[in-house]
Parts: sequence; structure tokens; C-alpha cells
Amino acid sequence: MDIKQLITQMTLEEKAKFCSGADFWHVEGLERLGIPSVMVTDGPCGLRKQAGETDHLGLNASVKAISYPTGSCVACSFDRELLRESGEYLGDECQAEDVAVLLGPAVNIKRSPLCGRNFEYFSEDPYLAGELSAAYISGVQSKNVGTSLKHFAANSQEHRRMTSSSQVDERTLREIYLPAFEKSVKQAKPWTVMCSYNRLNGEYASESHRLLTEILRDEWGFEGAVMSDWGAVNDRVKGVPAGMDLEMPGPGNGNTEKLIAAVKAGEMKESDLDAAVERILAFVFKYIENRKPDTKFDYEGHHEKARQMAAESMVLLKNDGILPLKKEDKVAFIGKFASEPRFQGGGSSHVNSYKVSGSVEAAKEYGVTYAQGYDTKTQEPDDELISQAVKTAREAQAAVVFIGITDAMESEGFDRADMKIPACQEKLLREVVKAQPNTVVVVECGSAIEMPWIDEVRGVLYAYLGGESVGPAVVDLLYGRANPCGKLAETFPLRLEDNPSYLYYLGEGDRTEYREGIFVGYRYYDKKDMPVLFPFGHGLSYTQYEYSDLALDKTSMKDTDTLTVTVKVKNVGDRAGKEIVQLYVSDDQSTAIRPVKELKGFDKVELAPGQEKTVAFTLDKRAFAYYNVDINDWHVETGSFTVMIGRSSRDIQLCAKVEVESTQQIKRTYSFNSTIGDIMADPKGTQMMGQMMQAMNPMQEAEESDANPMGAEAMQAMMQYMPLRGIIMFAGGAPEVAAGLQQLIDALNAQ
Ligand code: BGC
Repeated sequence: MDIKQLITQMTLEEKAKFCSGADFWHVEGLERLGIPSVMVTDGPCGLRKQAGETDHLGLNASVKAISYPTGSCVACSFDRELLRESGEYLGDECQAEDVAVLLGPAVNIKRSPLCGRNFEYFSEDPYLAGELSAAYISGVQSKNVGTSLKHFAANSQEHRRMTSSSQVDERTLREIYLPAFEKSVKQAKPWTVMCSYNRLNGEYASESHRLLTEILRDEWGFEGAVMSDWGAVNDRVKGVPAGMDLEMPGPGNGNTEKLIAAVKAGEMKESDLDAAVERILAFVFKYIENRKPDTKFDYEGHHEKARQMAAESMVLLKNDGILPLKKEDKVAFIGKFASEPRFQGGGSSHVNSYKVSGSVEAAKEYGVTYAQGYDTKTQEPDDELISQAVKTAREAQAAVVFIGITDAMESEGFDRADMKIPACQEKLLREVVKAQPNTVVVVECGSAIEMPWIDEVRGVLYAYLGGESVGPAVVDLLYGRANPCGKLAETFPLRLEDNPSYLYYLGEGDRTEYREGIFVGYRYYDKKDMPVLFPFGHGLSYTQYEYSDLALDKTSMKDTDTLTVTVKVKNVGDRAGKEIVQLYVSDDQSTAIRPVKELKGFDKVELAPGQEKTVAFTLDKRAFAYYNVDINDWHVETGSFTVMIGRSSRDIQLCAKVEVESTQQIKRTYSFNSTIGDIMADPKGTQMMGQMMQAMNPMQEAEESDANPMGAEAMQAMMQYMPLRGIIMFAGGAPEVAAGLQQLIDALNAQ
């Protein structure tokens, strides 16, 4: 289709109309020119296709679809292939339901455990989020269905999400909040990107030329269309030239007329409108021209896939040997979530699930007993339910208590108030533990919780929101039909107050300051060397793995080279399993303030008992770099770096060092406020400085004198951090000293 040619045949009015949806879920069509209207729909972890009444909060009915584990759950799989495959499944479902664009993945960073939408998001770590997102996008789009990478950008809280401004400094934006988008765009080329509701440093994302054009398109090479989150448009006339192509939902509600008027008044170029329409039509025709209307999908097969995804993702946090349960054990399942699981989140991602399987039903063959223990409609403990549960637990050999956060406590649209489970569940757990020492906990919720009872239980399986097949997946893991292989994609702090955003989270009015900067998640806890409940990357298995033979293909390199890292991992237990090998990089010495280490590689390997495999990673400049705001670019400081291989961020098994040399010359500008130390760091400066230092004689003499009450270190520091103007002062304002220094400054600046 010659889209440019098509646009020449459209009137100004038709083009303006095209920049908003036709309705809640459809892009405009134009019969006259043979342009069909296509559907976009939520996403990300299942299809929410509304045939009747529409809304963006998951309130009205949608067609039956498979509810897959949510983002926070699948992220713990650390499995690109699994994410890609799940994307393929979703892509087929979209083709079968005639959906052109699936609204996902959602890659916002988990800044606080409280964010109401953490269940949809992947991780606190941008590298992990980006890798998984790119895999998901490739999977969906391999079926000729588009994705909408969301919510761009810095949308890490729900509170006042449509008006609040995320105040984020440039380095933090580049290192933490943008990379998952950047990786997805560069590697997987999503057909669309969805701009977020919030403002970024005061400017609405939906009208930010910097975000939508300079960064997204000019820097990262995005070629698709930008659509707004549902209702995210503030000033439409500012939005189109900024690069915000499609307003959703439609129809334009006065904005179409504003666009027409702006073009007529010469306030907006018609070519900006043409560019927006061209990008919208590009994905419309990409879908139409590659449509697979005969696609059928097997609901049962996809339900099974959801089970496998869940089992590959859930995290075994604690196990003192009680798990796996034996089939002959008499086990009591306690807690309402055991029979009516919590498996998905509330809001726009809410799927009308094909069928939901709970754990009690899935464990029928093991003859488990069951007691409800609590009601999900209230947080108040129910003594009657608790005493029945205690009795059931006492009569068994082991109890599995299912707890979690209720739908009412965790959803899109608002943030959690704390990291606690409902009081009725905590009381139940404590009472059961008193009666039954062999107690295991299964947690079903979308984000991290506090576990003040952790020492009282023998095992914890974190199911997250495991999708509609959660029940069988949990039972597979509890009974060892599957071997746990998920690891945490977020840190679990001991208490909410430990979280780095705690002091500032939610912000003041419409201003949310991201003051913890780059120190999000483990980057913060590691720097502070703080104890945590469970570290990023932690997860147990029913087998054990050993690491050996870490090797780097070079010991020194330029930042333009790549480094190949290999390591052997062996299954030394007696069960087959999958291990997630994590690679972290640490800058040994740095003038920039940097995290202790950062995840720069991971791989998941399947190993039979006794089997050993070599895992290889390739590291490039980005693995060593930080974002230098002086040069607006990624920069590696010359020096030594440590490459670490870990089972988790706090369980590093092997380390090796590499020297990396920067190929980037950073131009410095010198003035009378440059310090002696700054000057001496420059070779030419060292050479020229010699004579000048004579002017500092009084200080040097003092440094050497026994009568000097200050230590040599203090004196050296005083010298090193003395600005050049200080030399003039100590030289009694001598004009020849000032002139000499001016010459020095000019010579250095001229380099
Ligand atoms: C959400 C989006 C979603 C859209 C459409 C909004 O409320 O933020 O993630 O895609 O609604 O339902």
C-alpha cells in the first residue's frame, strides 16, 4: 500500500479525524479510500476484548480468553524464550479475535513495592525488564499483530497518575526508567508505543517532544506510532507536533476540531498531521496485509501453557527441607485462596478467564483436606473460620496456608497503603503455625509483602498472580512434579520503611520527586549494605547447582570492544532443573557515584542430574558505562571492573577482573575555579603547574613543618581542592601569578 499517496487523497478534516480513535477500541477507517478500521485491545497478560459496553478499568464484560501469569510473575522466570512463546500464543489469540494491536507489554520500573500496578510490571531492574519485554514483543509481532509498549515514561505510581509529575534527573531517567523502553524499541521494534498519563519533569508525556521525538525516534530509531494512554491527552495541538500520533480512546471530543483549526490558523503544520496519519496507517496496513483470519487456537492447549509459564516463574523463597511434599503425606490446604485463587490483577488488564483452576481441586489426587480460614471481603479475623482451620491443620501431617493480597487491596488506579497481608490472614497463619509446626506458605499477590512470621514457617512458595492455571502450577511445585526455577525480579525488603523511595513516594500533590535517583531496588540495598528479607535474584530449587571455571576472553579491552564471559554450571543434585545464572558488573573505582553492582547478563539453563553446561555472555560498552550528563552520553571510566557470577544478587559465586579503557575524550573546561587537583589530573596541566606551585610555598612549608597541627593528609587535601583563585590570594594578589594562571587556563582549554 502506498500510504503517502493515500494521504494525499485525504482532506484536512479526514486526517485530523484519523488522529483519534473511532471509538473506545478502534482506529478510524475510511471507506472512500478503502482504509479499514482495526481494533486495539488490552493486554498485557491476556486478551480483554470487549464486544459490548466498553471501559478502561476492566469493569464490563469481555470475551473469554486465557489469563496468563502477570508481568511480576513471569519476570521471575528470567526466561526470554518463555516470554517469546507466550507472546506467540497471545499473537494467535489476537489473530483469532481480529485484534490488530495488543496493549502491552508494560515495562515501568518497580520503584516502590506499593505501586498498584506492580503486578503488571516486570522488575526493579531495567536490564531484566528490557530483555523480557523485547522477547514478548518479538513473540506477539511474529504473528503479525502489533504491540504497544507502555507506559512511556516514568509512570511508577498510580496515585494521581493523570496529573502527577515524576521529577526525575537525567541520569536516573537514562539508567533506570528508560532502558527497558530503549532495549525494546531498538531490539524488537514494537509497532506502537503508549505514552503515559503522567507528566515528566512538569511536561505531560503526551505532549513531550523530547520523549516522543528526540529520544524515542531520533535517538532510538523508533519507526512506529505513538498512541496515548486512555485519556492521557492534555493539549492535543501540542501533542501532534511532539510526536503523539493517535489519541485514545476516540472520537476526538473536540480535539479533531482543534487540530483542524490549528492547521488553518497556521499554528500547526499540516505536514505534522500527515506524519501522524502515516504512522497510524503503517500499522493498520501492516496488520491488514498480513492478516491470518483463519487462525484458531486451542483453549485447552493455551490453558496448559499458562500452567507451564506459572510453574517456571513462581519462586521458592524458603525451604528447610519440608518441600516437596510427599504424595502419601496427609496435607491440609488452608485459606480461601487455596480453593478460589487470586491469579490476576484489577483494572485494564483484567481478563474474562477461560477457566480458573484452584489448588484444592488440582490436589484432589493427593487427598488434601481444606479449610477456608478467612474471608476475602473483610480484613477482620473470623474466629470461627480460624478455629476450623486450626483443627484441620492439626489433624494433618503438614499444612499449606494460602495467603495474599485481595483484589480490593491491589489494583490499577491506586497504590497500596502498606506491604501487609490482611489481618485475618496473618492471625490465621500464626494460629495454624502454633497447631502445626510443619507449615508451608503459598503467597498469591502481585508484589512484595512483609513477612514478620517468616521464621515460624518451614517453607514459602511465592506464586505471585499466576494466571488462570495457578492451582495446578502451585501443586506441581509443592509436590515436586515440577522443580521450582523462578528467581525474584525484585528485592523484598524487611519492611516498607527500608525501601529507598519510602520518604518521597506518592509525592506532594502533583509533584513526585524520584530523589533516591539511580538507587532503586538492589542498587540501594547493596550500597547501604542493608539486610533484606529476600534479595533480587533469589530463588531455590529442589536440586543444587555448582559454578566453576569463570573465564574472560581478555583481561584488558577498549570500551569499543566486546568481552566474552563463560562459566560452567553443573547440576549436582538428583533432579532435573533449570538454573538462572546471573552476571553482575561492578566498577572497582569510579569518580561517578555508582551502584555496587548491576545486572548485565542472565541465562536460564536446563540441566539433568549430573549434567554440566557452559554459559556464555557477551558484554559491550553499556555493561560498563554510566550515563554522563556532562556529555549526554554513556561513558566508561578507564579502570578495573569486576565481573561477578551469582545465584542471586547477594550470592556471588565467582568473580574476575577486566581493565577497560575509555576511547572517549571528555573535554573539560578550566577556569579560576578549577582546583589544583583537577589541573594536575591533566598531563599538560601537571607539566605547566610546576612553576606556579612556587607561589604556594607558604603552604608547602607548613605541610612539612613539625609545628603544623594538621596532618599531611589534611594539608594535601587542602592543596588538591584549592581553586586557582586561591593561589592568587596566597601569592598576595600578585598580578604576574594571575597572568600566569590565565595562560595556563587558556592553554588547557585550547587542547
Ligand atoms: C491503562 C492502560 C490500558 C488502557 C486501555 C488505561 O487505564 O493505563 O494500560 O491499556 O487503559 O484499557
